Amino acid sequence: MCGIVGYIGNQDTKEILLRGLEKLEYRGYDSAGIAVLDRQGVHLFKEKGRIACLREIVDPQTCGEVGIGHTRWATHGVPNRVNAHPHQSASGRFTLVHNGVIENYEQLKTGLLASHDFKSDTDTEVIVQLVEKFAGESETVEEGFRKTLKELKGSYAIALLDKEDPDVIYVAKNKSPLLVGVGEHFNVVASDAMAMLQVTDQFVELMDKEIVVLTRNSITIKDLEGREIQRGTFTPEIDASDIEKGTYPHYMLKEIDEQPFVIRNIVQKYQDLDGKLSLDESIRKEMLSCDRVYIIACGTSYHAGLVGKQYMEKWAKVPVEVHIASEFSYNMPLLSEKPLFIFISQSGETADSRAVLVEIKKLGHKAITLTNVPGSTLSREADHTLHLYAGPEIAVASTKAYTAQLAVLAILAVDTAYAKGIELDFDPIKELSIVANAMEILCDAKEEMEDIAATYLPADKRNAFFLGRNMDYYVCLEGALKLKEISYIQAEGFPGGELKHGPIALIEDGTPIIALATQEKVNLNIRGNVKEVVARGANPCIISMKGLQQPRDRFIIPAVHPDFTALVSVIPLQLISYYAALQRGCDVDKPRNLAKSVTVE
Ligand code: G6P
Repeated sequence: MCGIVGYIGNQDTKEILLRGLEKLEYRGYDSAGIAVLDRQGVHLFKEKGRIACLREIVDPQTCGEVGIGHTRWATHGVPNRVNAHPHQSASGRFTLVHNGVIENYEQLKTGLLASHDFKSDTDTEVIVQLVEKFAGESETVEEGFRKTLKELKGSYAIALLDKEDPDVIYVAKNKSPLLVGVGEHFNVVASDAMAMLQVTDQFVELMDKEIVVLTRNSITIKDLEGREIQRGTFTPEIDASDIEKGTYPHYMLKEIDEQPFVIRNIVQKYQDLDGKLSLDESIRKEMLSCDRVYIIACGTSYHAGLVGKQYMEKWAKVPVEVHIASEFSYNMPLLSEKPLFIFISQSGETADSRAVLVEIKKLGHKAITLTNVPGSTLSREADHTLHLYAGPEIAVASTKAYTAQLAVLAILAVDTAYAKGIELDFDPIKELSIVANAMEILCDAKEEMEDIAATYLPADKRNAFFLGRNMDYYVCLEGALKLKEISYIQAEGFPGGELKHGPIALIEDGTPIIALATQEKVNLNIRGNVKEVVARGANPCIISMKGLQQPRDRFIIPAVHPDFTALVSVIPLQLISYYAALQRGCDVDKPRNLAKSVTVE
């Protein structure tokens, strides 16, 4: 979490930093700051809240040809102006922004920096104080910077300014994402490419434990021993227009609407020359040679994994376990003889998932990462990557990445089934195209979803339950997560049959229940479960599928193949959450306390 940006060149530095931070706000948004250096010194602006709040206090006259900026998701110390970055060394010579967590900051404070006073509660301030200490004891600032980095345990992406040298930004990376953007007579650095697309589409990747000395006209990458490293540039597959909202009021609504396109795009990307769904031979081999798949993920991606397990077990006959990454890390189950790990991560940067990847690599196991960001940490460190092709997802609550994950997991299962000679009784391309058409119809049902949100989740409702069985249960977990993430209503997803074993005690007069009924096998059972809660006063909103509907169902989704219902039934739940949040005046795209890319464990 946290986003950093740095710029050196002769354009409007403060504006480039602010615009870059706006694009990085998805990484955290509780406070922000920029520092711009000119011949007079450092101009520092920090503010609690969003980048918009920071913009208001930045002096429009500020000019300077080098600067750094930061948007924060608090880990050490509350969000306020003092804890906001950039942080400065005691003399004010060095100014620094940091993303990551310095695990040994307490030891450094009481050890090497025992004689220093600290202004903030952050772990970051120790870095800038150490730089000042070591720079004073070294021949060059760069050497002092490298000495500092060797003392740090944990993760960092850092940009550092030296008041006495306005021609350079020092940069370093370990575990936290960071990229350099290359320009003509300027250079830029940021947590991701989106923050730099305003000025360049040429980037240089950085690896862990590397530093960069950035000037207007040069990019010098070195290791921590000072040995130079050569690396070429690359152009990522993103278009600047992909990261704009266009005419939409929120990114979330735009991303919900993009889902039919994303599914069609995925089908196209994974078709071979004969028009058959097909994956890279190397991935197929991994699937064929493993005896069990372990899916590792967090949040929405974990929910996608639960559906993916059904596809792989049912179609490809491969046993699958799905694990929450942060639990797996410290409580690894007994593994099978030939395990294959599949990491699902929209961002490809989630620290909890990466911690598992690091562990299983040490054990010599193979890993595939399913991600929307090829080139991300999880993508680079796994053996193979499956690209989601969903386009940048900016809203913190994941929508199109979830359905993209389901589609790619389905294709992975189909490809494995084909390779094993298993005949499927459906044409996956045809079914996915029916799914995309159904998604379009659902995306057009916004007024009805707005009405459902107003009827079932009015402002006085503090909780809601989502009920489903089988595939519908997994979608209910995702629907409940969506609702709680953006509307702050306490929402829980339960398997229909489990309610009577405890949660039913929570049902009161008027408790909102959103039930999914898209599975023929359990259609009558889920309806029985709904009756149980209605008998206790609940207010049910049943969303069923065409062909399975009953008279008082509130909304009927178009019929799709029973195995693919998750791809469509989630859309009404996404839209209901969206409108419930909107009706409560919540910030839909940037919900409180959350961040899109969670790079701390
Ligand atoms: C964060 C986000 C969630 C997301 C989860 C996993 O908590 O707020 O929306 O599902 O991380 O993210 P990933 O990028 O690994 O899919």
